[in-house]
Formats: sequence, structure tokens, C-alpha cells
Amino acid sequence: MSFWGPLKSIEAPPADAVHKLHRTLGWPHLVALGVGAIVGTGILTLTGVGAALAGPGVILSFLIAGAVCAAAALAYAELAAMIPQSGSAYTYSYVAVGETIAWIVGWSLILEYSVVCSTVAVGWSGYFTGFMDGIGWTIPKALAGGPDAGGLVNLPAVGIIAVVAGLLLVGTRESATLNAALVALKIAALAMFVAVTLPHFDAANFHPFMPFGFFQSLGPDGAKHGVMAAASIIFFAFYGFDAVSTAAEEAKNPGRDMTIGIVGSMLACVVIYMGVAACAIGAVPVASFANSAEPLALVLRTVGSATTAKIFGAVAVVALPTVILAFLFGQTRIFFVMARDRLLPERLGRVHPRSGVPVAVTIGTAIIVAIIAAFLPLAEIAALANAGTLCAFVAVGASMLILRRREPNRERAFRTPLAPLVGAVAILGCLYLFWNLPFGTQVRFFAWNGLGLIVYFAYARRRSVAVA
Ligand code: ALA
Repeated sequence: MSFWGPLKSIEAPPADAVHKLHRTLGWPHLVALGVGAIVGTGILTLTGVGAALAGPGVILSFLIAGAVCAAAALAYAELAAMIPQSGSAYTYSYVAVGETIAWIVGWSLILEYSVVCSTVAVGWSGYFTGFMDGIGWTIPKALAGGPDAGGLVNLPAVGIIAVVAGLLLVGTRESATLNAALVALKIAALAMFVAVTLPHFDAANFHPFMPFGFFQSLGPDGAKHGVMAAASIIFFAFYGFDAVSTAAEEAKNPGRDMTIGIVGSMLACVVIYMGVAACAIGAVPVASFANSAEPLALVLRTVGSATTAKIFGAVAVVALPTVILAFLFGQTRIFFVMARDRLLPERLGRVHPRSGVPVAVTIGTAIIVAIIAAFLPLAEIAALANAGTLCAFVAVGASMLILRRREPNRERAFRTPLAPLVGAVAILGCLYLFWNLPFGTQVRFFAWNGLGLIVYFAYARRRSVAVA
């Protein structure tokens, strides 16, 4: 017991058959799960948003967001290899700090995982609708977007969530294998982007480098501008490696495979993003793709390669759902563990005897995510997903440092190098990025957690089965 409520034991809870996930994933599946979750809407669309906020200096925004995420990834890797339980940041906070903070983190993770699924589904719907239009099958506007976009309901977004949820219900290993193939396709498309744009690289496109300065300042439209303001949005492009840690109870060899999966996918993506962003900025003036809905395809068209732009768009349609898959998977596992801890209804914590999949929670999560994607305006709640994730990363950095002090001699299959420094970069870096988020997002984040605390004290706390 701590000031923040009961603590959870580091050892995996003894689970009966209906509450036990099956260990079917090796490290290649986990790296693919991480890269599949990371590379998505962020690099495909937010590059343009970031460029509008920071100019060519957006390359620094990528570097800063990447460095903060790399620090968080190291902390995640240490905890995921040491604590063989699913639930990610929620579980680590429960072990290190106490139940109340774990609840706040779990509640914030709903913002990250569910809202990201909805955001990516709507982003995918945009690409899909354009693709169908191109082959002469126009989807009526009323059925291709929610009320904020001048429609009634976003049916393609609902459809892709149903398809991904169906795949997850078939089985975890089957989903992970298909995911790996789609990830390879996505990486091939980005490699093609670099190969096509590199010959057009012109260093003059990097001047003036920081037209809006480094630290946040208010632009003419009242929005926060500058390299740091862009970094707090670009941050969206980097997370997803944490989804790997939700698979801790499904990894064959968690001590080794979690580390390779989390650190490997994160490092791969930092390299890929820096390359892609540098090529995009070097190939054409930033102003020409700033705020575009499809900046990378636009860059390809601008350098005169219409065919590769089309291929790029087609790959986005086929491969973007890997992000939905990884985050839907992660959300179901977090709900599953919270239900097994009795903080949510117990029924949600049961797995199917043959497939090993938590069926009720997968279907329930898919329905919630589909409703958000079908009707709600998403530009602002994508920033809300960042706020939830930043909260989780702060908790993980702090949990790593707390457990280093409290359990110095416990076996760690992976030890974060320079732990105090890396922990401090993760915690302070995330707090600073949070401070740079739009003001409205910060208010919504605290309102969401206020609601969460009411649910906790009115319902969850009294039912908890925490192991003291
Ligand atoms: N990193 C994920 C993406 O960019 C959330 O889509």
C-alpha cells in the first residue's frame, strides 16, 4: 500500500484459463507490431502540419520529438522486460506508484489508444474515398464523413475498424503475421519516396530555417508556432512502440523479445523519419506542402513523379490499417488487464478458450472506436491523443526511476543506460511537450481525467482486487 493506494505485485498474477492470454509472439512479430503502430498518419500527413508551424526547422521538431520518445522507449523496454504483465504504462504505474495513479494513467491511455484508432480510421477513409473516386466509384458525401465534414456518417472508417477487429478476433498470431507483411509494404513505399526525391535535394530549401523561431510563439492565426510547438504535434508520428509492451503476456520470451521489439522499432522509425523529412524539405520549398492533407504524395507530384505519387497513395490505403490494428490490440489488452484487476467489469477480462483472444473486450472496444470515427470531429482529438500519451510516458519514466530505488537488486533483462538522465529526459521532455500543446487540448485532457476520477471513486476503487 502507498499514499496512492494499493500496489500491484511485480510477479505475473496467477491466472486461471479464462483470464490467461496465449504466448504466441516472437521478436520479429513484436518489431513489426511496433513499426506498424508507429509509421502511419503522422509521417504521411503531419509532416505538412509541422512544416506549417516550424518551416524547414520541422526537421529539428522531428529530432526533438524522436529524442524524447527514444528516452521513453528505453524506460518502457526496462519495465516491459522486468514486469511480465500486459497493461503497459497502467500496469507499471500500478506496480511502482499505486492504484489511483495507475487508474489515471489507464484512463489517459484510452485517449491514446482509442482516439488514435479513430483518427487513423478517418485519415484512411480520406485516402480510400479518393482512391475509389479515381476508379470511378464515388462514395456519396453523406456516407463518407461525419457531420463536421459536411456528411452524416463516415462509413468507410467504420468499415475498416470492423475489418481490423474481425482480424484480431481470428487470433493474435494470425493478425501479427499479416501485420508484418503490410509493414514491409509501408517501409518499401517510404524507401521509394527517398529514392525518388533524393536526386532533387537542394540545400537552399532549408533557408530561412526557423521562420517562426525555436520556442513557441503565437502566430497571426492565434495558434502556437515554432519548432517546439511543431514537436508537440509531430510527437504523434513517433508513438506506437509502447503498443508492443501491451503484448507482454503474449510474447514467447518477454525478457529478450520486449526489449528488441520496443527499442528496435523505435530506432528504426527515428532513422526512417529523419530521412523522409530531410528528403521532403530538400526536394521542394516547405511552403508548397505545408498544411497539405497528403504532403508526401504532393512532394512526389511536385518533383514530376505522378506515377509514384499514385503508388504511394495506394500503399497508404492498404497499409495504414496496421496502425489501427496495433492500437486496437493495445487498447483491448489494457482494458483486459483493468478488468482482470476488477477496475472494469470482470466479463471484459475473459479470453476465448481456443483463439486465446479476449472476445468481449475486442468487440466492445471496436464499437466505441467506430462510433467516435463515424461522427466526431477529429482534428482536435488527435492532439488529445498526444496529451494522453504524454501522460503515460511521464508515468513510465517515473516508474522506471522509482523501481530502480525500491527494487535495486531485482533481475532486469534490460537495463536503461544512464537511467537517471534518460528518465529525466523522458519526464521533463514530455511535460514540456504537453505545455506546448494547444490550450484547448490541455483543458479537455484535465476534464477527461476529472471524469475518470469520478468513475474511480464512485465505482472502480470499491471493486478492486489489488494485491497489496
Ligand atoms: N504513430 C502513429 C501514426 O503516426 C500514431 O499514425
